[in-house]
Amino acid sequence: MPGHATLSQIDDFPNMGVSDIGLVRQTLLSRLYGRTQPSTLVGLSTQLSSIHSLLHRTVTNLEGNSVLVIGPRGSGKTTLIQKALSLLHHHKPQQEHGQEREQEQKKTHHVVKLSGFIHTTDKIALRDIARQLLITQDLENILIGSFSDAFTYILQQMRTDSSDRPTPLVFILEEFDLLAQHPKQSLLYTLFDIAQQSQRQTPIAVVGVTARVDVMDLLEKRVKSRFSHRQVYVQYTQSPEEFAQIVREALSTGDPGFDHRVDEVLADAPVRAYILEAYEFSKDPRRALRVFASAVARLSQLHPALSLDEIRESVGRERASAKMQVLRGISLLELYLLVAMRGLLGTGSGKFNFEMVYAEYKLFMSRYVMGSSGSMKVYKKPVAMKAFETLVELEIVRGVGEGNAAAGGVSGRNDLLAASGRAPKEYRMVQMMLEPGQVVELVEAREDVPAVVRRWAQQ
Ligand SMILES: Nc1ncnc2c1ncn2[C@@H]1O[C@H](COP(=O)(O)OP(=O)(O)OP(=O)(O)O)[C@@H](O)[C@H]1O
Ligand SMILES: [Mg+2]
Repeated sequence: MPGHATLSQIDDFPNMGVSDIGLVRQTLLSRLYGRTQPSTLVGLSTQLSSIHSLLHRTVTNLEGNSVLVIGPRGSGKTTLIQKALSLLHHHKPQQEHGQEREQEQKKTHHVVKLSGFIHTTDKIALRDIARQLLITQDLENILIGSFSDAFTYILQQMRTDSSDRPTPLVFILEEFDLLAQHPKQSLLYTLFDIAQQSQRQTPIAVVGVTARVDVMDLLEKRVKSRFSHRQVYVQYTQSPEEFAQIVREALSTGDPGFDHRVDEVLADAPVRAYILEAYEFSKDPRRALRVFASAVARLSQLHPALSLDEIRESVGRERASAKMQVLRGISLLELYLLVAMRGLLGTGSGKFNFEMVYAEYKLFMSRYVMGSSGSMKVYKKPVAMKAFETLVELEIVRGVGEGNAAAGGVSGRNDLLAASGRAPKEYRMVQMMLEPGQVVELVEAREDVPAVVRRWAQQ
């Protein structure tokens, strides 16, 4: 597979000098966009040894095998499998004397990678299997028949050009659950069926990869019965340190100078804080890695080091857009409270408490809505209080007062308890963390806001 060969070559970084900055850039970008994985796996050693030993048995002992790798998005499933595959290259099958030369030129195994995202039908999958196995014969006549016949034909074609020893095949089936949506699950049935038969001409290992924990329920009975029921579970990293290590691995190249710069960048306080936040938000490292993409894209002969300014800027942009996303997701009542706060901004110090906000909201409702537009109800105080507390939790509204003096508070908790000492929570003073214009924008961006509220927001 020429495609795969080049990608893994890129990932190897043979003692690179600064002159190879173009290669660094290309490799890191392809990692950041998920097209390739770093060569160092963090954690997951138990999982790695299960997958590796299973593949090893297929490649060296010519055993058929099947396994499902299950874990959430970004937990490292693809990285794990890449690592296991790369370890296989270090094991050559035992060679008989005198055959060494020939064996050396022959691959120990072939890898076929399919993905439920791309291979949406069995026929598309078959064509790609043939392509990846370098089968050049015209397949069109064969593709009319069943998957199983066509696949058997492909295996026969492979055998004609090989010596006595069969070349084992490793099938990696990404987005396995989507492949299970194909009619009759013919592809999965055929692969599992062959993997299960021990004395096959061509031994195959089938590695299904999915984020769906209920994947077994998706399999038809006859498919399930052919599956080995081996499952390998992959979990997210359990500590921020390990998470930071993953980020570091994703950016490291093996070039001491470049990697030193990566360490400097990762030691920067704002960058560290961002990575920690990303970890707390979602354990999928790809979100944290996004902020490095623009700095990596700018690497060049002239600027061979990652720019900290550029990364800090991306962190800022990433934060702003995360905030906007949160804002777009708030409920209508929460939005009305923000409009009410915006109204209050004009009247006083910029600080207010829940009672004031609720009064403003009720005033609006009684003036403009009640009676005229019967579909809008006035939310009761406890309901509005809940909405208000949500805004505090989302840090769209922050308490002011002891321990929270710096607008927005640099550190620590933003809850109503911390605000204004011990006053009942309805009376604790808060500040809105949005510009008045942002509130208007938000109202305008939403289609579910009644016209009367739109007018209120524009007043
Ligand atoms: N354990 C890990 N060791 C090293 N890198 C990791 C690990 N887990 C995740 N990563 C990093 O996160 C990125 C995403 O990981 P990966 O593509 O393996 O996840 P996945 O489980 O296959 O996700 P998906 O379900 O979306 O396919 C990788 O490119 C890598 O940079
Ligand atoms: Mg993956």
